[in-house]
Amino acid sequence: MLEVRGVSKTYKSRRGDKRANDAIDLTVRPGEIVALLGPNGAGKTTLLRQIAGQLLPSAGTIEVAGVDMVRHPLAAKEFISVIPQECEPKLNLTVEEHVRYFAQLKGVPRSDARRYTTDLLRATGLETYQGKLVRELSGGLRRRVLIAIALAGPHVRLLLLDEPTTGVDPEARRSVWQLIDGLRARRIGILLTTHYIEEAEYLADRVAIVNGGRVVAEGTVQAIRDRLPYRGRLEVRGLDHLTPEGRASLREAERKYPATFRTGNIERLQVQDPFRADVIREVEGLHALGLEASLAPVSLEDAYLSLVDGSTAEGS
Ligand SMILES: Nc1ncnc2c1ncn2[C@@H]1O[C@H](COP(=O)(O)OP(=O)(O)O)[C@@H](O)[C@H]1O
Ligand SMILES: [Mg+2]
Repeated sequence: MLEVRGVSKTYKSRRGDKRANDAIDLTVRPGEIVALLGPNGAGKTTLLRQIAGQLLPSAGTIEVAGVDMVRHPLAAKEFISVIPQECEPKLNLTVEEHVRYFAQLKGVPRSDARRYTTDLLRATGLETYQGKLVRELSGGLRRRVLIAIALAGPHVRLLLLDEPTTGVDPEARRSVWQLIDGLRARRIGILLTTHYIEEAEYLADRVAIVNGGRVVAEGTVQAIRDRLPYRGRLEVRGLDHLTPEGRASLREAERKYPATFRTGNIERLQVQDPFRADVIREVEGLHALGLEASLAPVSLEDAYLSLVDGSTAEGS
């Protein structure tokens, strides 16, 4: 569905050149959801805009459904729908009118447009809102409308979503996730960008972690986690009210397990195997001293933090 090979992008300006993408390889197959996960400034939007044919790559090739995006942009764009970052529906129309308008614009014949739109609103869980003005909907519902609009049209094979839930509240975010997850059944390919680790974890069949314009890890969430040299983490909370015994035991634990992260109140330590009896006993010991200690298998977050050096991110 999508084949990206060796794609690079250098922005040229008077203040100097900026290499935003550096030899990126990426594949998205039909029915698959792939997440580009990375901090602000990693180069996610740049890559998406090149794939969408809005920006020419400085090097490399992009094929969409077998069509070369650089050589045949008009033909390749037929297969792609893109929702840009921070995009909002602008027209003063109802949900139904919005989706029908774009469906017709993208080539659904006028005579079929109403039935086509009804089906699409049902598929995106928007039928109960169809008579409402889009500008009066909540942020999460407006994102759903954007996705419905993006799906409209007879040829869509690849959906590009740039930060689909940024700025959406946590509850609405989950409903957008469910909608995106349900689109697998349509057998289109979905490429989304996000800086939310959870979003990639919930949605993606495969994740490409991007940092400084490079793909620094690629694979299933499990494969990326498995590359960490340890399997578990010990998290201790309540560091701001330790007893002297608690503090001594924590020092002891820190000597055995390397710390990965610490704030005034929470600390994380790496453990080789979180299910080993001696590790569990040790955590029980910390508990007995009144420390809030918990063991967990490593998550995508642990892998992400080990790969993405905070100093290279551009704020957030
Ligand atoms: N039009 C542009 N001209 C120059 N630099 C740009 C331009 N667009 C983005 N950049 C820079 O390229 C890098 C990647 O940006 P972007 O692709 O927007 O990252 P992301 O979407 O991951 O936040 C950043 O350092 C950004 O400042
Ligand atoms: Mg971006």
